[in-house]
Amino acid sequence: MNGMMNNQLPNPDQESLQHSSKVGAHIRGEISAAQGSIAFSEFMQHALYAPDLGYYVSGLAKFGAAGDFVTAPEISPIFSRVLAVQVADALRQFNAVAERNILEVGAGTGSLAVNVLRKLQELGQLPTNYYILDVSDDLRDRQSEAIQDALPSFFERVVWLDGLPERFDGVVIANEVLDALPVERFTKQVGSVMQRRVACENDELCWQIAVAPTYLSAAVVSLENALGVAFNDGYTSEVAFSQRAWISDIAKSLNQGLIFIFDYGVSQREYYAIDRQDGWLRCHFRHYAHSDPLRLPGIQDLTAWVDFTAVANSASKAGLRVISYCTQAQFLLQCGLQDEISDMTSLPTSAQIEMARQVKVLTLPGEMGENVKCLVLGKGPITVSERVTDIDRSHAL
Ligand SMILES: C[S@@+](CC[C@H](N)C(=O)[O-])C[C@H]1O[C@@H](n2cnc3c(N)ncnc32)[C@H](O)[C@@H]1O
Repeated sequence: MNGMMNNQLPNPDQESLQHSSKVGAHIRGEISAAQGSIAFSEFMQHALYAPDLGYYVSGLAKFGAAGDFVTAPEISPIFSRVLAVQVADALRQFNAVAERNILEVGAGTGSLAVNVLRKLQELGQLPTNYYILDVSDDLRDRQSEAIQDALPSFFERVVWLDGLPERFDGVVIANEVLDALPVERFTKQVGSVMQRRVACENDELCWQIAVAPTYLSAAVVSLENALGVAFNDGYTSEVAFSQRAWISDIAKSLNQGLIFIFDYGVSQREYYAIDRQDGWLRCHFRHYAHSDPLRLPGIQDLTAWVDFTAVANSASKAGLRVISYCTQAQFLLQCGLQDEISDMTSLPTSAQIEMARQVKVLTLPGEMGENVKCLVLGKGPITVSERVTDIDRSHAL
């Protein structure tokens, strides 16, 4: 998710404000039903996913120029096309089994699906089926329309799932999904771990700090032990139990194959650095990024960067191999970005300039190039090319 940091947000239009006040009322109802406060993770769940109301499930624009943020597949088809080359390599290895599928989790507007499938068609490596698992009915509709328009002959092999398959052979793709899962927030206070909760005062959402439940304090103490630090008073950050559970569930479902995860994130040591006093939660509204999640409930995106060490550890515990961890820039540059832009000179100048802009956003360190990481996991005999293992920096996790 790309956006400049700013606390001065543009004014929402009337319709958005009305929607936000409905979401606010829903959340205040939940707070009152819970006798005064809810954990931040519950707040994030309601703000993003409350049925018909939450940011991801309502009909808001969200993606692109008219929305709040842009993701790599929205910035350029190059991202999906480079990824597709690695996916094709994996699918080729499935000749002996009856089915070789792709499962995309959290498919947004369907851009990644369209461009991965187009490239796979060019490479003669279309999967048996392309499964999509997304919690948002609104986005499912947009995905369906985009894929039907772009690839009518493949459309009947695209299947929307309501849950993970019991047994899956193939390639799992998740771009910017982990950072959209609800996280717990904690603050250290007089040496104790406190839980950040959301309450309501004079009809306004506000923070409340309470003694942390055992599962949260134990997780924070275990982080302090693993890192050999004691967080100072006032130190605030997140623990993403949801991200850990997500990868364990995928591991159970995957029989053999690869998992490609792209997301904003860092190693655990960087995530819980002593100078990172306020965690990694970010909010996006109309391409402005800020750090107050209680503003504009339901009409701004909330994301928490990923602790990739925790995800890799959960993956290993669940029986997955950690194959490669690298930056998005390393992945794209190493895995074929050059091939995708090699015939750029045959394009009109305006298209060349636009493509150069897209490549910059995808690869420059201050943009997505270094902030977004790629984690490749695997199960069974399916392997990746040396292009991917050569750039592995998982020792840094
Ligand atoms: C930030 S968007 C990224 C969309 C797309 N992958 C892209 O890169 O443009 C997050 C996506 O994940 C979906 N999502 C969130 N939680 C999910 C979950 N638990 N399971 C499946 N999809 C989920 C959202 O509905 C949305 O499509």
